[in-house]
Amino acid sequence: MLRRIALASGFAVALPALAAAVDGTAPTPNIFAPVSTPAVAIREIAFFVLGITAVIFVVVAGFAIYTIVRYRRRPTDSQSEPPQIYGSHRIELAWTVVPFLIVVVLFLVTGRYIWSIERQPQPPGALEVTIIGNQWWWEIRYPKLGVVTANELHVPVSEPAQPIPTFITLESADVAHSFWVPQLAGKMDLIPNKTNYLWIDPTRPGTYVGQCAEYCGLQHGLMLLVVVVHPKDEFERWVAAQRAQARDDPATQRGRDLFARLACINCHTVRGTPANGVFGPDLTHLMSRSTIGAGAARNTRESLHAWIEDPATLKSGALMPAMKVSREELDALTSYMVTLQ
Ligand code: CUA
Repeated sequence: MLRRIALASGFAVALPALAAAVDGTAPTPNIFAPVSTPAVAIREIAFFVLGITAVIFVVVAGFAIYTIVRYRRRPTDSQSEPPQIYGSHRIELAWTVVPFLIVVVLFLVTGRYIWSIERQPQPPGALEVTIIGNQWWWEIRYPKLGVVTANELHVPVSEPAQPIPTFITLESADVAHSFWVPQLAGKMDLIPNKTNYLWIDPTRPGTYVGQCAEYCGLQHGLMLLVVVVHPKDEFERWVAAQRAQARDDPATQRGRDLFARLACINCHTVRGTPANGVFGPDLTHLMSRSTIGAGAARNTRESLHAWIEDPATLKSGALMPAMKVSREELDALTSYMVTLQ
């Protein structure tokens, strides 16, 4: 049961895979370990609110405990009711005005933070990314760099001496989703026919995880988000590799021909081949990603084999149909897929 719950969250499969790939420590979606300005602001405001509510808790609980002890029933108490008191303008005014002022303070402080984050102008050197929510995966496009990928956002580190923030445009191809990588920024919804914006400036290289945070259908739980923050030169190498056309390995000619002949190319793009479908993830550099199905399984030959045979075995409800191919064709297709590095 626990395993099922964990699997449904998407993290269970993806985190160990990522931990192995990164530095042995599993990334954590922890709002108290921010590495980007908007997330730092959220932590500040979280501590501020927690501080105020902690004081309220101590005062209210203190009064309650004091009253319970001070006015407890004693053996010397008379059996008749104590005197009944109705109304006190002074006390009623106090418990109306004080909470009202507290709420006003919380509102003003929150408003100031939201304003300062949302009004941040985009500097000229910023990286532009468009993320499109799909049932149930993320399309990630770099319009100025000519790169299209899925589920794993790669960005350069943004050091104070050389800031390169990433400005993200959020759209949806179907229903409402929500982009949430707690260590980098707050939640922002992806809504059909409405464009939203978000920016991050991660100051430390590493891998950060998030998850779709708006219920979007059966596999809402399997919309893992991975953000890989690279040192600048490493990011440039990643871009160069992603821009390249798909590898054309003559040894997997059979699989490539099948891919072009079957329905695969209606939905998937492999740049450098006739495949230019846009309904499913771009597969040009499929093997550069750590998971398939947005966290449904580690990206290995075995899971690709199972996925092509019937995606529902790894992610029930996935919109890709079982391809109903023979064992030999399945093997050939899988062999082709694993060359797409
Ligand atoms: Cu997409 Cu929940």
